[in-house]
Amino acid sequence: MADLETSAPPAAHTIAELRETISGWRRQGFSVGFVPTMGALHDGHLSLVRTAVEQTDKVVASVFVNPAQFAAHEDLGTYPRQEARDAELLAGAGCALMYAPAVEEMYPAGASTRVDVGGPAEGLEGAFRPQMFSGVALVVAKLFNQVQPDVAVFGEKDWQQLMVVRRLVRDLDIPVEVVGVPTARDGHGLALSSRNAYLSAGELETARRLNGVLAEAGARAAAGEPVDAVEADAADALLGAGFDSVDYVAIRRTDDLSAFERTVDSPARILAAARIGRTRLIDNMAV
Ligand code: PAF
Repeated sequence: MADLETSAPPAAHTIAELRETISGWRRQGFSVGFVPTMGALHDGHLSLVRTAVEQTDKVVASVFVNPAQFAAHEDLGTYPRQEARDAELLAGAGCALMYAPAVEEMYPAGASTRVDVGGPAEGLEGAFRPQMFSGVALVVAKLFNQVQPDVAVFGEKDWQQLMVVRRLVRDLDIPVEVVGVPTARDGHGLALSSRNAYLSAGELETARRLNGVLAEAGARAAAGEPVDAVEADAADALLGAGFDSVDYVAIRRTDDLSAFERTVDSPARILAAARIGRTRLIDNMAV
């Protein structure tokens, strides 16, 4: 169990600083947990940190807004950044080290390696945000090499990302145990997300309908209704609830995210992405 820290955890900004601290821990026989984040932390992130604290002796959390996973038209420039507040929140959750590298530290001039996971990275988010999972896989592979954790904790809110990371770890023989943590939700069931900060009060009301629509659709699919019809009805329901557009509602096999032919015949997940104003929300749940 990690010691609970009472003030902001020390921060490492370079790979050398990070490795110096972690090798000190390793010399003392501590296990290392890791939570990668892009900052703007909320209770969802802190539940990941607490899970890592329960499972390992010392926890590192990275705060790095990863340019490689944003397309040119996306919100890299405006993505919320609040490193000092993040440091305090991490300390409160028991994190022993915040790792906040600069972009030049992560991607020095001349860096050209790409990581293409294929499989679970294809379709869904991969279809609407083609650069996303290669950028995630690249930075997660680098972070795993930099931190070399025993356990790495990811949120189930980004279910497809979790499956991509599991495949990356399996295919590249990375010696880390990947742990998924159920999605943290507000009192109305809205999945916590740093991007919820973009929502106006009216948009928030609409956003809070997303999980109910998915739960109802998931129940219909579980009862044996044809997947295509359930997905189409759920997309209509989201538009009726006030979403401006729906990128997808998809019922897929839980692990490899492959599609069903007609009805659900093995463990399944319902996943969706929809837009309100300039905000794009994703959510998913077990069927
Ligand atoms: O889920 C996120 O916040 C990011 O995709 C991650 C895993 C930190 C990689 O940048």
